[in-house]
Amino acid sequence: SWTPDNIIDMRVEQLKEQIGDKQVLLGLSGGVDSSVVAALLHKAIGDQLTCVFVDNGLLRLHEGDQVMQVFAENMGVKVVRVDAEDCFLTALAGESEPEAKRKIIGKTFIDVFSDAARDISQGSDGKPVEFLAQGTIYPDVIESAKSHQGKAHVIKSHHNVGGLPDDLQFELVEPLRDLFKDEVRKLGIALGLPHKMIYRHPFPGPGLGVRILGEVKKEYADILRQADAIFMQELEKSGWYEKTAQAFAVFTPVKSVGVVGDGRRYAWVIALRAVETIDFMTARFAHLPYDLIETVSNRIMNEIADVSRVTYDVSSKPPATIEWE
Ligand code: XMP
Repeated sequence: SWTPDNIIDMRVEQLKEQIGDKQVLLGLSGGVDSSVVAALLHKAIGDQLTCVFVDNGLLRLHEGDQVMQVFAENMGVKVVRVDAEDCFLTALAGESEPEAKRKIIGKTFIDVFSDAARDISQGSDGKPVEFLAQGTIYPDVIESAKSHQGKAHVIKSHHNVGGLPDDLQFELVEPLRDLFKDEVRKLGIALGLPHKMIYRHPFPGPGLGVRILGEVKKEYADILRQADAIFMQELEKSGWYEKTAQAFAVFTPVKSVGVVGDGRRYAWVIALRAVETIDFMTARFAHLPYDLIETVSNRIMNEIADVSRVTYDVSSKPPATIEWE
């Protein structure tokens, strides 16, 4: 019968058999899927697992610290944190076109991860890393089958991280490949991961890079992180975090005039986005209570000197998308 504990026991046995005494590498994003893979592999092979967490400078407030706290400190998982903020921001400088930004972020991530992988492979007691673990779940398998149709012959399965270089030859470990999201969440809870980590809203791979419209700058990322944190705090406090499928703040590179005390303030505009959706293919803007929007808006303008105005996005998908870029 399908119980989380049965599945965990079975997977742990399978992983032990597949991996033996070899070393495994996992890119940990802090999202649900890679977190559950980390917990499962840690249970199966302990210290033979090394996780790489890339801080790309496009994470939300305290996100990196939270990942390190849960995995490294509480669970004793080996996690290497790579501070790659400069790499990403330098690569993104001067680029404002959304698709170009996504490509730069994807490529930089692969470069940083590959370098880390090479270092770990060379450093791990002379035992090379032979396996790469991924949090692929069943809907990903279906999606990539669809999007790769017609060119499947050029996509080797061990490159489906999105283009790892050819000289990094790993065998893939994908213990969630036949599971749906709700099943993955049940495993996560049974493995002892915090509820907050398992039920968090999805966060896109390119992170704040697609929530800062146009050119990405550290100054903008810092402002957005503060605004986003205020929005999340108030959503959680009011019970609305769990009633929305996804919510976040967006940095618009638009300045607007405001008034503070006796003075004029010419500063940035922040947009708030919250949606209700089941499948993320279509979505409706969340009908948050006006009082909640008012609290968030006031806090953002009062607490962040560089923001003069807050707007709420009332677009549905389609024709808008959930993210702004
Ligand atoms: P859109 O903006 O297309 O987003 O309506 C649908 C869902 O996908 C997420 N999203 C991404 N997730 N990498 C990801 O891992 C990406 O590049 C990416 N772009 C969008 C988005 O946050 C929403 O949940």
